[in-house]
Amino acid sequence: MSAFLPERLDRLRIALEAYRRRLEGCLGDPSSPEFTVAMNEFLEFIRTVDDREAYAELEAGGQVDRYRAFLGPLVLRFIWAMERVGHAQAVARSRWPGGSTPLVEAPAWGAYTHMGQSLEGIALGACRQFAMVGCGPLPDSLLYMEEHTDIESLVGIERDPKALGMARELVAAFGLERIRIVEGEGERIDYGEFDLICPSVFVTPRLATLERIAATAREGVRVILREPFYTGTLLFEPVLDVLPPPLEVIADSRSEPGRLMLKRYVLGLGRRRERTGP
Ligand SMILES: C[S@@+](CC[C@H](N)C(=O)[O-])C[C@H]1O[C@@H](n2cnc3c(N)ncnc32)[C@H](O)[C@@H]1O
Repeated sequence: MSAFLPERLDRLRIALEAYRRRLEGCLGDPSSPEFTVAMNEFLEFIRTVDDREAYAELEAGGQVDRYRAFLGPLVLRFIWAMERVGHAQAVARSRWPGGSTPLVEAPAWGAYTHMGQSLEGIALGACRQFAMVGCGPLPDSLLYMEEHTDIESLVGIERDPKALGMARELVAAFGLERIRIVEGEGERIDYGEFDLICPSVFVTPRLATLERIAATAREGVRVILREPFYTGTLLFEPVLDVLPPPLEVIADSRSEPGRLMLKRYVLGLGRRRERTGP
């Protein structure tokens, strides 16, 4: 252990605790400007932490899990607040004469922006049915697929009634006939009809959803995995090291971690083990 590591670990902890207190102070109203500013600053902080050794120490001490339990729900509330704004803008764009291209004004760090690189190396020509699990009120990954691929059927799966209604409203406003938004829980549905599946990194439980994909998807399926990278584990549960077989990594993408500190992988479904015995 480096001589100054305890002090550096303390510095990191003090900074995280200060953000925790500040975020706790504006929990009452997640759409307040104070919350948005604090969350933006926090995301910038975790993007620029440069002490990997201290962060590894924090993870090894089990403290990252504790922060994640607090920060995970908050980042979802933050994204919801952002998506609400994006949704209103997109509905307004849908009323422009001749519609609007692109469909959404995508923030540089959002899912829409990174989708292109996530698809590198996937044979989209062979793909007929795409599932976005946890499509959200502003289903930007689906909108990307609508604009940039010819996949026949694009399905958004969502469990939250409000998000379902908002996503459907947007799809109807633009008249996007290839997109269907359906009610469902990622950890329960049958994935047998899909060739390509992308679970949102916000889908919980993350591992159970991958287990369900591993159990019900068909051979040849491709899964886009969004996985926390480095300080991204403060926000999202890592699953790459515990992938349920026969899911396996077949490629990783060159995409930048971006604001939510995510890496993107393509998973394939290896051969299922034959059952033995009765
Ligand atoms: C905020 S959105 C972000 C997705 C982003 N718009 C995109 O297209 O990549 C994530 C959504 O996942 C949904 N979600 C979380 N867990 C889920 C689950 N187990 N099944 C279905 N939806 C889920 C949440 O309700 C939320 O609306």
